[in-house]
Amino acid sequence: MSDFSFIKTSVDEQVATIVLNRPKVLNALNRPMVTEIITAMEAFDKDEAVKVILLRGEGRAFAAGADIDEMANDGPIDFELLNPFAEWDKINFIKKPILCAAHGFVLGGGFELALACDMMFAAENTSFGFPEVTLGVMPGAGGTQRLTKLLGKTKALHWLWTGDKFSAKDALDYGIVNRLIAPELLQEETEAYARRLANQPPLSLRLIKEAVNKAVDHPLEEGMQLERKNFYLLFASEDQKEGMNAFLEKRRPNFKGK
Ligand code: CAA
Repeated sequence: MSDFSFIKTSVDEQVATIVLNRPKVLNALNRPMVTEIITAMEAFDKDEAVKVILLRGEGRAFAAGADIDEMANDGPIDFELLNPFAEWDKINFIKKPILCAAHGFVLGGGFELALACDMMFAAENTSFGFPEVTLGVMPGAGGTQRLTKLLGKTKALHWLWTGDKFSAKDALDYGIVNRLIAPELLQEETEAYARRLANQPPLSLRLIKEAVNKAVDHPLEEGMQLERKNFYLLFASEDQKEGMNAFLEKRRPNFKGK
């Protein structure tokens, strides 16, 4: 993949990894870095050799927020013209599973990026939070929306109004995090989970993701209709024939993503 300045990428056993790589500033997300993350995600989404995308951070943090240096002198017209959050919105259109391995600090824009992933695994020592209020601003890349959908209004308001950090255990209890992992095992265990997903039938993963995301924001009836259409659609796939024949023939299926 093309040269990046702020991230590192690799592919191993059908799992593409994107590493946030500005460790000296705790992976503070500047705009070019966000563009690089999205560029890599979109390329991996199209790459047949990739089944799952995994995001993690180099150094002491996953990411301690958007880059405060970069935006400190911005005015609203700069934001209007640059439209930086349009880049972030593109994550919503990635079809493959995106896993996040979170550790250290997951704050502000870093937390928003982690919440935009499909699943999050966190080291036991991770601190989460939205400190934007302490800077006189508020989250702008989906934080108020995604946190509230997960926690409900009153808990979300507490964390957003105070800017306090909460622990990995809290994040697990709130349903933000799928699993807590010892820091030294975080990468290994998240990769193992990603490889497990990479061996599942890719079209099923893709259409399940679409249906589950529909459930978050739409009425039940609408979600049920999409679920049914996706269910029918999978019967047009070679993997459905392979999966069911393998069951009947008592052998392991060999899925092709077709
Ligand atoms: N932007 C720019 N630089 C940052 C940064 C950020 N968000 N977070 C950390 N850094 C830099 C620090 O300035 C410091 O750089 P120098 O060594 O050049 O001084 C370096 O990273 C290491 O940080 P600290 O020395 O502060 O490390 P620490 O262990 O003492 O503290 C911390 C860690 C509590 C995470 C602290 O760095 C911190 O509070 N960071 C800012 C967190 C924050 O406010 N994030 C929200 C940003 S706004 C946002 O994200 C808006 C949005 O919704 C899009």
